[in-house]
Amino acid sequence: MTEPFLIGEDMTGGYGSVDILHGCTIAVDRGEIAVIVGPNGAGKSTAMKAVFGMLNLRGGRVRLAGEDITALSPQERVRKGMGFVPQTHNIFTSMTVEENLEMGAFIRHDDDIAETMEQVYALFPILRDKRHQPAGELSGGQRQQVAVGRALMTRPSLLMLDEPTAGVSPIVMDELFDRIIEIARSGISILMVEQNARQALEIAHKGYVLVQGTNRFSDSGAALLADPEVRRSFLGG
Ligand SMILES: Nc1ncnc2c1ncn2[C@@H]1O[C@H](COP(=O)(O)OP(=O)(O)OP(=O)(O)O)[C@@H](O)[C@H]1O
Ligand SMILES: [Mg+2]
Repeated sequence: MTEPFLIGEDMTGGYGSVDILHGCTIAVDRGEIAVIVGPNGAGKSTAMKAVFGMLNLRGGRVRLAGEDITALSPQERVRKGMGFVPQTHNIFTSMTVEENLEMGAFIRHDDDIAETMEQVYALFPILRDKRHQPAGELSGGQRQQVAVGRALMTRPSLLMLDEPTAGVSPIVMDELFDRIIEIARSGISILMVEQNARQALEIAHKGYVLVQGTNRFSDSGAALLADPEVRRSFLGG
């Protein structure tokens, strides 16, 4: 079997001396969507931070495209092709939409960012209309589009999203999921944490149910949706 495009393998670590993750493993293949679900406080955001290098792991490793990147800083991981949209504070509210996108391209010096910005505007047309408006004036769903667009500006091969649909209506959630599917189809791997577990697993190639920092269930999205115990305990029946 070939190695997944990204794997955070057997990750153990937390904040200070307290471990939050206990041998947690998360993986995603090229151009596929992997979804992490689980109760509040399970360690989902912590697992994302660990994969992105914001956490010192006491055990385990992170490998991207066959390379061990466990020792790299978040900024070095961005250069390797990772994009991360955190759960909170993921845009600059006083800056315009366009300035947010320009900030997203911070690691790019040599080439033309205009083309990538066009791709972001093609994906999220509303952002083009509002490009000169402060991002803080946008609706919740539009702000999440800015955050995703900003992460796309580095042209990542892996896009990590921590609760991209938090606080948005069901219709806006469906639209965001459609855009996420579109991004994956363009060849970008997606690793996503979602509170809307059922809907997220419907679009997931791979799903992970995390409980207290460990893998409780790992399977295809469809298999998890069909599993009676997963349904009863984590999907509301
Ligand atoms: N910066 C931090 N310092 C210390 N402890 C933290 C920190 N961030 C999170 N924790 C703790 O780690 C545990 C897991 O938190 P985490 O944010 O990873 O959960 P989560 O699964 O993302 O939850 P939610 O669904 O509410 O977003 C919690 O007990 C939390 O209190
Ligand atoms: Mg979280």
